[in-house]
Parts: sequence; structure tokens; C-alpha cells
Amino acid sequence: MNTLEQGQQALNARYPLRGNQYYPHFHLAPRAGWMNDPNGLVYFNGRYHAFYQHHPFSVEWGPMHWGHATSDDMVQWHHQPIALAPDSEADRDGCFSGSAVVDNGQLALIYTGHRWLGEVGDDSQICEVQCLATSQDGITFTKQGVILQPPAGIMHFRDPKVWHEAGSWWMVIGARDPQQRGQVLLYRGESLTSWRFDRVLAQAKVGEGYMWECPDFFKLGQHHYLLCSPQGIAAQGDRFANLFQSGIIAGHWSAGSDFTDQQVFKELDHGHDFYAPQSFAAADGRRIAIAWMDMWESPMPTKSEGWCGCFTLPRELTEEKGQLRQRPIRELQNLRGEGSNWPPQLLIEEKLLQESVEATELSIHWDLQRVSATAFGLKLGQGLTLRYQVANRSLSLTRDYSTEGLADSRRVEISDATAMQWQIYIDRSSVEVFINDGEAVLSSRIYPTGGDRQLKLFSQGGDVAVDTLHYWPL
Ligand code: FRU
Repeated sequence: MNTLEQGQQALNARYPLRGNQYYPHFHLAPRAGWMNDPNGLVYFNGRYHAFYQHHPFSVEWGPMHWGHATSDDMVQWHHQPIALAPDSEADRDGCFSGSAVVDNGQLALIYTGHRWLGEVGDDSQICEVQCLATSQDGITFTKQGVILQPPAGIMHFRDPKVWHEAGSWWMVIGARDPQQRGQVLLYRGESLTSWRFDRVLAQAKVGEGYMWECPDFFKLGQHHYLLCSPQGIAAQGDRFANLFQSGIIAGHWSAGSDFTDQQVFKELDHGHDFYAPQSFAAADGRRIAIAWMDMWESPMPTKSEGWCGCFTLPRELTEEKGQLRQRPIRELQNLRGEGSNWPPQLLIEEKLLQESVEATELSIHWDLQRVSATAFGLKLGQGLTLRYQVANRSLSLTRDYSTEGLADSRRVEISDATAMQWQIYIDRSSVEVFINDGEAVLSSRIYPTGGDRQLKLFSQGGDVAVDTLHYWPL
């Protein structure tokens, strides 16, 4: 049996043993075993493909495989056989993150082959190269070998994102330069197997990280956006509160020139669990992003159920009045069961919405001109509180699952002082909050135990007007 078959066999054996208390109803997660970054998001031959960093042999990160799922609508996913396994010399210690493109009717995966040349864990012994694998049917892949070697002196050189623009292939790669600064390198390709270095597209200044992982680069509205996931940025108040960050730098770019007018790096999400987002073009051209909804080195209570890691919901990125917005894709509306509404009313103290919630969508419009409360918001069981603090216009998401080692908050300031809209998706072990039609998002994993899933709204120190409230079981 080869390595790929062994991985598949391990996965098949572990799948029936998986626990489901936390397993998502409407987010993509591995059938069993470990998942991290989304990889190779692409529309090919009439359906969507999502690949992901996967370890089928255990719930811990290990030699990386590429898990695979397909979908007609980016919402309902169908698991497919493991696409790549670490079975060649160049990728013997892992098929790391990468992307997918369609080339001459074939699906091409461009990924990082990772291996240790010496002692495992010794950074100077890391060897990372970019590799290609192709497929006719989108299910079975044939490795085509190494297509790009790292520049001299660079060990961390990974997560290629490839796209076609202005008559050429382009590839951005995350790297760590010899001075231990994160950077994104740009390559230009005549074909998927022939690349030359174009330039350093962007580079960390002091304090901006020692490694920039998982870059992505695309045009949207009036800008080009560089998406990347820096490691090594220290927390600054509410900003950069997670161990690693993911965000965007807006600027201007055209083929053969520098990435100019770079704005400051902005986090894409303000929740606890959001890393390594990647974007792609949907069939109709919408720019969609999906991230890994977890954080490195954070407790991951689903391990006791035999699985670990899930994707965020796909979100559509748009640029409006020069600002990036993120909205849940409209296909998610297909999940809605029969909805319930509230007539406009004053929320006084507390109101029960549902006795027990596993998978639901809520949309709430708050009238901030009719509020005497000091704070108001939503609670799911004892463990999750979303609280808007009127005086400083900040929204916090607090988790309290202290038996799991998870008890902390994330916070974001909201710009509009007259009205506020929340669109919330709750799944068995996650919450995603979209604020003011995509102005800000918070994504976090949650772990209610023993049916502690009562959903209620609250106000403190006074009342608040709720203009509309809709909710749907999903
Ligand atoms: C980001 C990352 C990537 C790497 C992959 C390995 O989470 O560290 O840089 O390719 O995960 O699983």
C-alpha cells in the first residue's frame, strides 16, 4: 500500500469513531484527524474544490497531506479522497500549503514540499521548494515534481499562491529573509513549470513579524490587496490579540512594477480563531475568502472527539468607498429553515430567544438612538457573551470555557453610532459575527458542554430598542 492509500485507510478507520458534540453542521471540517489551512480553493469543471492541510493519522498536526472536498455552492461540501500525501523526496515531511489553478483544462495544484535536511526542529535544516501536481478529473493527482527552488540563504519559503493576470502567470510566496523579517516574494511564470524571480513585493518593518505565511494577492475595486498571515507581531491593545495574525495591505500594482502606496496592515477578523485565509474567484467572479477557524497553540477541545480544525464560512470580499467589506456569501441563505421574527420592541433586561441552539442564523438591527442601557448583547449558555458597550462603542466577544483553558475576550470598535446590525452564525462549535453589513467580523470557536446552549438577548443599566430581529434554524 502506498502512502496515500495508508492515509486514506487510517482516515476511513477513524471516521466511524468520531464524536459529534462539536462537529459542525454547516462548516467544512475533516471527516476525522487534523485540519489546518485552506488550500487550492478553485472552481473547476462546474464545481468548487477546497483542499486543506490534513493529517489523517491523528488529531495532531503531522506530515501534511491535502484533504479534499467539493461543492456546488460552497456551502454543502462532499468529502473526496485525500488528494496529496507526503510521498516524494521533495515533500517527504509534508505537502504544505498552496493554491490551485486551471491550466489547459487540467487542475493544477502548486504547493510547498517541506523536508528536514538534518535534525527535525533545527530551522537551518529546513528545505522548502515549490511543487506541482496535476489532474484531469479533479480527484486523482499526479505529481510533476519541483518547479521552484528557494533563493540562497532562505529556508522558510512556502505557501505559493498562483494566478494569471496581464498575460502571465504570477506566484507570491511567503518567506523569512536572513535578517529574520517576514516578506512576500513575487515570481513571474511563462508556464507553471518555468518561473523567475520578479521582486520582493512587500516586507515587514521592525515589529511586523519574522515570517509572513500564506500570502495571496488580488485586485478588488481600486486596489490590489495583499493578504498574508504574519507570525511574530506583538499585541497592541485590542489589535493583534491572537498568537498569529491574518490581514491585508491595500496598495496599487500593475505587472512589472512595485506594489506602491501600501497602506498599513489591517486584521481581517477580530475573533479568536482566524488564520491563513485564502481567496479565489467564484464562478460569477465574486472574490471569496475562507480561513482556518482555529489558532495555533490554542486548546482544541474537539481533539477528544477524534477530529480537529474547521473552515470559516466563505465570505465575499468587496471594496466599497475604498474600504474592504466582508459578507457571508448569499448561498448560505439556502440553509435557512423556517424563520421567526420579532416585531420592533424595547429590550429590557433579558429575553429568551431559544432554549437550545446548535445551528442558527440571526440578524438583529439595534437602534442606537433609543438606548438607555450601558451595555447590551447576546449570550449563548454560560460560555459565550457578545456585549456592546455603549459608552466606548466597542463590541466584545467573550468566551468562558475555563475547564478547556479558554477564557478571554476579543474586542473591536464600531464606527456607526446611530444604528448597528449584527448577522450571526452559530454552529455546534463556532460563532461568526458580521457587523454593519461587513464592516467588521469576529470569528471564534466555542465549546458549550452538556447542552448549555440557551440563547438570549440582554440589556444592562437600562433598555435598548430592537428594530428588527430575524432568526432561522440552519
Ligand atoms: C500556516 C502554515 C503554513 C504551512 C502550513 C503547514 O498555518 O504554517 O505556512 O504551509 O501551515 O501545515
